[in-house]
Amino acid sequence: MSIPQIQTLVCATNNKHKIEEMSAILGSSFSFLSLKDIGCNEDLPETQDTLEGNALQKARFVFEHFRVPCFADDTGLEVEALRGEPGVYSARYAGPSRNADANMNLLLEKLSGVSNRNARFRTVIALIDQYGEHLFEGVVEGIILYEKRGTGGFGYDPIFQPLGYSQSFGEMPLSDKNLISHRARAVEKLCVYLRQIDRS
Ligand code: IMP
Repeated sequence: MSIPQIQTLVCATNNKHKIEEMSAILGSSFSFLSLKDIGCNEDLPETQDTLEGNALQKARFVFEHFRVPCFADDTGLEVEALRGEPGVYSARYAGPSRNADANMNLLLEKLSGVSNRNARFRTVIALIDQYGEHLFEGVVEGIILYEKRGTGGFGYDPIFQPLGYSQSFGEMPLSDKNLISHRARAVEKLCVYLRQIDRS
């Protein structure tokens, strides 16, 4: 019986939660190292004006400095009536302090009196491996509620309700959110790719 190959990849983050979430989806055939694990203690550059640009910029930085296969992700909340705002600026929408409450308040204010509440979370993962650069996208469609609901999750979760559900992400158990989330969908696509090259 052949021994399955373990593939080690650097996930360009120090966010333990992200690494755990990805490991849970990808299973035991792949192992991940964080930036800290490879001795990278710098803040990665994130100066592009698209999610794709930022994800690639972070992955390229790690690849160029450490020469290891790696991937990076970037996520934004895209609101239809605001022509995709806050998008790539989601983390700092209300200012550099990255305050989730202030970000939600600003968004609710901008949507006050607006009946089109359509929005989506979009995650882009950029992977650099021996074959080159690859992008994987995950999207979850939904609406922006009129007020915050629930205390779970993070970021914009209390004001985002995914299509087909009656709870906001902030009211949903994390296990339910992880089944349908933008990040999970992008990671699933990464996973399909990794399994495919693992077999070839
Ligand atoms: P990041 O690229 O994963 O750091 O995400 C950028 C910003 O998007 C975060 O700071 C949050 O404001 C928002 N965000 C990303 N993912 C989620 C999510 O799953 N729920 C709510 N907000 C999120």
